[in-house]
Amino acid sequence: MDIKTLDTIAKQYGTPFYLMDGEVYLKNIKAFRDAFKQRYDHLIIGYSFKTNYVPALCKIAKEAGCYAEVVSEMEYLLAQHLGYDKIIFNGPIKNEDILKKALADKAVINLDSYYELGAVFEYKKEHPYEEVGVGLRLNIDLTDANGVSKVQCGLRTGRFGFTKDLLYEIIPLLRKQGIKIISLHGHTSSSDRAVENYRLITRQMLQICELFQLNDLSYFDVGGGFFGAAAKGINVSDRPKYKDYADCILDECLGNKWFNAVKPNIVIEPGVSVVANVFSYVSKIFQIKEIAGINFLTTDGSVFDVKPTLHNNNLPHKFFTNEVCHDEYIANLVGSTCMEKDVILNQVSVPSNIGYGDYVKIDGIGAYTMSLTPTFINFLSPIIEIKGNTTTVVRRRQTLEDVMSIYNM
Ligand SMILES: Cc1ncc(COP(=O)(O)O)c(C=O)c1O
Repeated sequence: MDIKTLDTIAKQYGTPFYLMDGEVYLKNIKAFRDAFKQRYDHLIIGYSFKTNYVPALCKIAKEAGCYAEVVSEMEYLLAQHLGYDKIIFNGPIKNEDILKKALADKAVINLDSYYELGAVFEYKKEHPYEEVGVGLRLNIDLTDANGVSKVQCGLRTGRFGFTKDLLYEIIPLLRKQGIKIISLHGHTSSSDRAVENYRLITRQMLQICELFQLNDLSYFDVGGGFFGAAAKGINVSDRPKYKDYADCILDECLGNKWFNAVKPNIVIEPGVSVVANVFSYVSKIFQIKEIAGINFLTTDGSVFDVKPTLHNNNLPHKFFTNEVCHDEYIANLVGSTCMEKDVILNQVSVPSNIGYGDYVKIDGIGAYTMSLTPTFINFLSPIIEIKGNTTTVVRRRQTLEDVMSIYNM
């Protein structure tokens, strides 16, 4: 990428804009799959829609044979709209209508709590001769050997899924109604994304499979939450690789008698780990200021576009100026909104000759960005796919008509 290319794209589509590299995404998916397939052939990848549901991206996942992993009515309908007929339906809230529709569609539904049973039983009553199967999400105890909870944000316990005690209650109820248990789901988000977390998840899932003899199980779903797909510039030398996760999960599964007898599909639900390095974000420098000894560069972009969770890490980035300049100074890159917290990069080196009209590209912004960004102050930015020398618009810039289309006047 050079300034000439950025200039050409900027002239055509305006700034800011996202760049998408679909080939990198496909490579990530294939690499994750290969890590498992070398030892176990029955692997299903359920791509996590919530992480980034840009249609062009979801289409690549579908063509690569992935299922859609969705967690809401909106995502369920979107997956169907994009032509997916293989859908894993997770999430804590499933209203009766969408749950019954998913049962009729034969989606893989992982129930999260008790209230969902009502709709499932009703559906079975309405379709007594139909084979009905559901999955169950298991609440995993992610406490490590030192007694430390690995659940995201340091929480003592996660809130999703059924505890073992509840399973004692509901599994007999489901069986009594002739409903098969076809899936067990163990997704548990951790902050450290450590390989050892998957040993805890897999072991607890296997224990449940043995305890309740879940011999109809087709989907042994360990969920997502993996590390991988880091943008260049992030030191990943001590971070887990796809193969480390695959080996950990497979060591547990392939060493288990129940698993070898039933041989369910192993399901992984990657999000961040396949999409983080697929997108970059380019914005244009407008202002250069020094206030009370602090240098500010203001772009037409926004922190809400590149890290809406407002974490403190500086993402990998590059400044593009017309002339090469080896002198640098320290500045904050700030965004175009009226919020003081709109800080995109904090205290980074910038070329001394940076000026109005130059660009900054932020990398590794594919996960929990576009799917989390509402229309805030600015129109939503276009997404441009780059393939060799050609560019394709996979999302145009939002217009006033788009913004107004859901309001009554
Ligand atoms: C059920 C489920 N599956 C998959 C994922 C994807 O996780 P990640 O993007 O961390 O891989 C999530 C994220 O929270 C999730 O809740």
